[in-house]
Amino acid sequence: AYEKLWLALSIVLILALIGTVTYGAVGPGVAMVADSQSTIDPAALDEDERFSEPRVEQVGENEYEAYVVARQFGFQPDPIVVPANSTVTFYVTSADVIHGFEVVGTSANTMVVPGEVSEITVETDEPTEYGIVCNEYCGAGHHVMQGKLHVV
Ligand code: CUA
Repeated sequence: AYEKLWLALSIVLILALIGTVTYGAVGPGVAMVADSQSTIDPAALDEDERFSEPRVEQVGENEYEAYVVARQFGFQPDPIVVPANSTVTFYVTSADVIHGFEVVGTSANTMVVPGEVSEITVETDEPTEYGIVCNEYCGAGHHVMQGKLHVV
């Protein structure tokens, strides 16, 4: 009987360890908890229901999705406004060249590649304001390419 108990405890410990690795990234008010990628036709952003109108949408009780387009030299929407104490998944794509999407001072950071949708999920806590910067060289205006994330 004890063997089964130990086995169960081991599994719990392993899962806890995996959880720590996966969800270990923390920021002061925004913490990235997951990221992944999918593909998109960069020439057809205007016909894509997510990106034709960059926006934040509520998809659950405390769940939101933000559709963000990066292009030389800014992000849309700007500011991105999301509620505190919620889970927000950002879907970020580029209309032109490779950009970066980094919420300054947090673990939320991804490359933004034309033809791909970068997906990052964050947990927000208290209301605050963040800067968003492009951290991949994208042309003459790279150093001024920035946006804002308002957690309200
Ligand atoms: Cu966009 Cu650098």
